[in-house]
Amino acid sequence: MTQPLKILISAGPTQEPIDPVRYISNHSSGKMGVALAKAAIKMGHKVVMVCGPLQITPPKKATVHQVITALDMRQKIKKEASSADVIIMAAAVADYRINQPARQKLKKTKNTLTLKLIKNPDILAELGQIKKKNQILVGFAAETKNILGYAREKLIKKKCDWIVANNVARKDIGFGADDNEVYLISQHGYLPIHKCSKDSLAKKILQQILLSLKNPEKIA
Ligand code: CTP
Repeated sequence: MTQPLKILISAGPTQEPIDPVRYISNHSSGKMGVALAKAAIKMGHKVVMVCGPLQITPPKKATVHQVITALDMRQKIKKEASSADVIIMAAAVADYRINQPARQKLKKTKNTLTLKLIKNPDILAELGQIKKKNQILVGFAAETKNILGYAREKLIKKKCDWIVANNVARKDIGFGADDNEVYLISQHGYLPIHKCSKDSLAKKILQQILLSLKNPEKIA
């Protein structure tokens, strides 16, 4: 085994409160992030996770920070990021939050209800801005069309080393499913990883990413 690395992994959705009993969120289960954490631990690395509300239990050997909102997730990740060798943003961070969540439960007195949303900070893009030399930054791209094109745009815009791009329109892979099929994209090219369990996919993704620590241009 090579030197153990600190691998920081975000997983799951975030929940953005509307009032004390309601929130907006997405379909992320956290399975991909947890599979990556398990694979990294098996390879002998130290894993720190920052998790939104998951539908699956994170590995016991990982240090786990539980969060609810995108703003909480950003704060915890930024604390851990500077000492991480590899950062993998597998979380499905909510793009918007409610401007001012109601302090009391909203009553259904009106026929329509308008919620004002404001954009959440893009955690991955912020990490790209402060990325250290020799640190590997990995993002995910959840797309429903033009997968490679949109994912490459995210790679460049957010200054990542790798983007794991998947098609979330397909029911058999992605959100909540046990399997996934992705493109692993860097500025040097891309590697298609065909449909397999999220556990074996996680191992393949990590092997490729860790190989690029030694040889950034190599796509195996
Ligand atoms: N991400 C993030 N902070 C956000 C939104 C997304 O860190 N506020 C990260 C995700 O964890 C993922 C990557 O950015 O690693 C791409 O997320 P995705 O939802 O595919 O794309 P967006 O950047 O949100 O763009 P769009 O929704 O327009 O496709």
